[in-house]
Amino acid sequence: MDNIWILFVTAIFLSIVILYRNWFRLNSKHRHQLPPGTLGWPFIGETFEFVSCAYSDHPESFMDKRRRKYGQVFKSHIFGKPTIVSIDAEVSKFVLQSDAKVFIPSYPKSLTELMGKSSILVINGSLQRRIHGLTGAFFKSQQLKDQITRDMQMYVQESMANWKEDHPMYIQDETKKIAFQVLVKALISLDPGKEMEFLKKQFQEFISGLMSLPINIPGSRLYQSLQAKKKMIKLVQKIIQAKRDSGISLVPKDVVDVLLNDANKQLTDDLIADNMIDMMIPGEDSVPVLMTLSIKYLSECPTALQQLTEENMKLKKFKDQLGEPLCWTDYLSLSFTQSVITETLRLGNVITGVMRKAMKDLFIKGNLIPKGWCVFAYFRSIHLDESNYDLPHQFNPWRWQDKDMNSCNFTPFGGGQRLCPGVDLARLETSIFLHHFVTQFRWVAEEDTIVHFPTVRLKRRMPLWVKRRGDL
Ligand code: HEM
Repeated sequence: MDNIWILFVTAIFLSIVILYRNWFRLNSKHRHQLPPGTLGWPFIGETFEFVSCAYSDHPESFMDKRRRKYGQVFKSHIFGKPTIVSIDAEVSKFVLQSDAKVFIPSYPKSLTELMGKSSILVINGSLQRRIHGLTGAFFKSQQLKDQITRDMQMYVQESMANWKEDHPMYIQDETKKIAFQVLVKALISLDPGKEMEFLKKQFQEFISGLMSLPINIPGSRLYQSLQAKKKMIKLVQKIIQAKRDSGISLVPKDVVDVLLNDANKQLTDDLIADNMIDMMIPGEDSVPVLMTLSIKYLSECPTALQQLTEENMKLKKFKDQLGEPLCWTDYLSLSFTQSVITETLRLGNVITGVMRKAMKDLFIKGNLIPKGWCVFAYFRSIHLDESNYDLPHQFNPWRWQDKDMNSCNFTPFGGGQRLCPGVDLARLETSIFLHHFVTQFRWVAEEDTIVHFPTVRLKRRMPLWVKRRGDL
């Protein structure tokens, strides 16, 4: 018994020594060239403080405290990795613009396990550029925008027809349903029905493992999520096979067609099927959150709501007189509505920042970023910095009327080679949703708060009491 105790105590002692030795190395390597900051506790670093701030009403308080102490670029240790945090717009721009020889994406292990090795979110080099280019061009095409506009109008009308006035409806849930249908239609041309419901159910199972422990054994969360992904891939493979059997359309109807038509013939069916599921990860949640946040901010700013409603009503009346439906250019021509969306992106920070891993030692603005370290380009602090925006915590869509959106102080969709290919889709969908909502309904919003971690969302799913305008 005594021997077991001695072994146990020795093992713990040795573990502590090794941990501290590694920690000392991490701290001492290039100590004088690293940006200021602290790596916190061995192994856990500053993760607890980061997470507790992220859960609070001011998630940027972790950054603000360190900005005052160390400046806009500082070292830390979060999520198990030594990390250089940047809340400096120029440094973040450099990070976004760099290619895979300098930086590659870095995600938590559970996420990379779920995404697989060939996902567009993790691959680098020519294959990433190819898939990104093909997908981005398709999402920008007039033909897809026409289709999205038709689909979105139909799904929005179907959803709104069922809204009841005698109990609150949850705008976050409603927008989630609509945006998922639009996304799946654009990716694999699936219409609402049994297979769509199946996909939705499996997708929820799949994403519940995104922030799980990276343990893949039967019964574990990660294992269940991977099983759900397998079922979804099977469905997409069936769709691909049906397309191959009937001859692939040369005029692409969806992203699958675009990738199947790829002239380089680099992309296998398995890779395409896998990527259709992985593309749902950034697309599924972000757009409904953007729509929900815009409704929240408008509910709290009556002058903006009034101006937005007037702008949309004017267009609706004009189109009604012509007897024409709205097309995508009509929606995007609504300048105040676009400013509302832009301001929601700035203030809401649907994606708070991006993580990269350095592939070599490099200096940016005099700061050393050692090979193997992560860089966390945290957009939220830049979007809420008072030297970039007056009264940054105030919802003020008018600020965009004479402000340039193409600045490194505004990067809600990232930038460089990994700039979000869904940027046009997200803005168009939100414009269509806002148009139909404000022209058909008035509403009273119940109290709700924004949760910022692990993803941005409304705590109570944004309950609204709605009234049809015609009924008033
Ligand atoms: C409000 C909505 C959205 C926001 C704020 C957003 C934001 C972002 C950001 C910041 C990135 C860059 C990630 C990085 O650099 O590592 C990104 C990448 C990406 N987004 Fe979006 N996104 C939105 C909607 C969408 C939609 C609707 C899709 C449709 C499929 C989409 C698909 C993607 C894909 C595939 C990537 C990875 C691109 C690559 O690494 O090559 N996103 N998004």
